[in-house]
Amino acid sequence: MIGIGILGYGTVGSGVYEVLKVNKDIIKRKTGEEIKVKKVLDLRSFPGDNIESILTHNFEDILNDDSINIIAEVMGGIEPAFTYSKLAIEKGKSVVTSNKALVAEKGPELLKLAEKYNVNYLFEASCGGTIPIIRPLNTSLTSDDVQKIEGILNGTTNFILTKMTEEGRDFEDVLKEAQKLGYAEADPTADVEGHDSCRKIAILSSVAFGATVNYKDIHTEGITKITSTDIQYAKKLNCVIKLIAESEKTPLGIAARVVPCLIKSSHPLATVNNAYNAIFVKGNMSGETMYYGSGAGKLPTAAAVVGDIIDIVKMKGLYVPIDWNVNENMPVLSPEKSEIKAFIRIGFENKENAEKAVFDLFGNVDFTSLEGLNNEFAFITGQETEKSVIDKVNKLKNASAVKEIFNVIHVEE
Ligand code: HSE
Repeated sequence: MIGIGILGYGTVGSGVYEVLKVNKDIIKRKTGEEIKVKKVLDLRSFPGDNIESILTHNFEDILNDDSINIIAEVMGGIEPAFTYSKLAIEKGKSVVTSNKALVAEKGPELLKLAEKYNVNYLFEASCGGTIPIIRPLNTSLTSDDVQKIEGILNGTTNFILTKMTEEGRDFEDVLKEAQKLGYAEADPTADVEGHDSCRKIAILSSVAFGATVNYKDIHTEGITKITSTDIQYAKKLNCVIKLIAESEKTPLGIAARVVPCLIKSSHPLATVNNAYNAIFVKGNMSGETMYYGSGAGKLPTAAAVVGDIIDIVKMKGLYVPIDWNVNENMPVLSPEKSEIKAFIRIGFENKENAEKAVFDLFGNVDFTSLEGLNNEFAFITGQETEKSVIDKVNKLKNASAVKEIFNVIHVEE
């Protein structure tokens, strides 16, 4: 019998318990072992819940229980999750997690420790919810030199943008629904400001490119500045707005960013809606592969956590290295060095003069406007460095014919 300790009985933790219970027989058939949750750690009490008799408020009860072989750390956050994971590994227990904040911040340290103690530290559920992506990168695409990863990596923001686009609903109203559905983080700032996607693309880049990509180096913008007017413009341009996380190998370093983007409605990522996520991986041999599924939510995320537990049981005590050289860091290019196209929305005092100011800076662009909005227009720039776009936008702000720059949004080809 394999004993499991669950750290945290929130959305994902209760899901892990449920997956192990509902799929008990099929999991036993696949692993040849009975897998039993021995203890659950949480500060709260759950009177009447299935786990009442195995609930503890004291981590030592789990750490010192020799019948517990694998720990599912699904608490989120850095501390005490880091200390608990570290102590568990040092005690010879494998750890599986959905905690992207911890993997992005302390992954290299925990992976090093796991190797030293000959146990496993697995984190499939940390990126893209239920989508298999760490495992394909680590075991299926290993003959490839991965060049690029691009995708929608946050369920909450994708859910919000979908509902704003399809139902014309307000940001705040949809965010509340995403929280109720268990998609959002305890503090949804991490979702809506792009930090969650940033940590996920850093983890994926580290596994795909084989060395640590520091999430703190990745330029990150969220969706809080996207308005319903931006979405209407996107529709008019036959586009949708998505929060895109991307990371690409260049001769100078990694070009990585998390930004809202206008993408053509025909782009494969444009049809990824609600809390679904999708990830493109481009290899130098395999070309493009795409991975799609539920990016957030209780059971989809828990299923990925349990998948890692099953893998560890099947490995029978073997340490399986992850292709992430934790002793090496990869430099991330400053956004100024990468090239972009941008959608720019302008409020004007004088239309003709404002158009002239745009032509003078950006060349021969096409203008577009929305019916009923008489004092503004928008245009899409040509391809140029981000620094050049920022400098020109600053110059536009000072043009007397221009009243306001409402928004500048990346455009993905
Ligand atoms: N808050 C995260 C999201 C949960 O919305 O994608 C899954 O990592």
